[in-house]
Amino acid sequence: MTRRILVCQTSEDLFEAATQFVAQSLASKPATGNTHSVALSGGSTPKRLFSRLAVEPYRSQVDWSSIRIFWGDERAVPPDHADSNFRMAKENLLDCVPILPEHIFRMEGERPAQEAAVRYESVLRGAFSANTTERIPCFDLILLGMGPDGHTASLFPETSALSEREQWVAAPWVEKFQTYRITLTPPVINAAKQVLFVVGGSDKDEAIEAVLEGSFQPNRYPAQLVNPVQGDMVWLLDREAASRLKQDSYTEWINDHEKAL
Ligand code: 6PG
Repeated sequence: MTRRILVCQTSEDLFEAATQFVAQSLASKPATGNTHSVALSGGSTPKRLFSRLAVEPYRSQVDWSSIRIFWGDERAVPPDHADSNFRMAKENLLDCVPILPEHIFRMEGERPAQEAAVRYESVLRGAFSANTTERIPCFDLILLGMGPDGHTASLFPETSALSEREQWVAAPWVEKFQTYRITLTPPVINAAKQVLFVVGGSDKDEAIEAVLEGSFQPNRYPAQLVNPVQGDMVWLLDREAASRLKQDSYTEWINDHEKAL
């Protein structure tokens, strides 16, 4: 149950570090059974991570036939829409590696959001009950980003999903975007074996300071809700996003291929 904040000097290093971390995670022993269950984050940040993972030297480090892909959240759009998290992952990773189609578990953004949430929860029940007797899904790795407002996945400030403790998937209305979203809820995120935040850019420096060093205000900064019960959590930041953090609160990440993260 470790908590680490690693700061990379450049954006390039941030994605190198993230790719090394994910490749190592996917190459390690799964939490249960013989498959790795990974929930991908959306937005723009992971695109450079996915595209690195899809090529050498990382591509061949992973046994893609043992990887099961899920999503942490999805927009209320069809899978071929420009805003679709599924489409972004498909174009930058899933179409480039030998993952098994039956190991891709898409959130159905084209359906009414509440219906998509209910359906995804039953997908999780099916996908995880085969592997484990535990009640709540235990992802091997959940990738997360964070918005400038401190949201993560589609857990946005002042929304109903923040207090959800029973459902595994929720469909909150997000006023600022005038749309519904589909998202894993805090209990599922916090049941993960590993959580990796990848956050870069100066537009996130205030939220990073508030989330990591401010008072506990999860309704205002939902990323503060992420606190794996037994799992490890790593915040991977670039220098810009970390610029307001106290120097002694993080470790500098040095690009050393031999050194495990
Ligand atoms: C989404 C994401 C969301 C994202 C943050 C950061 O669907 O938008 O899951 O939580 O991680 O909004 O987005 P950027 O990486 O584009 O800054």
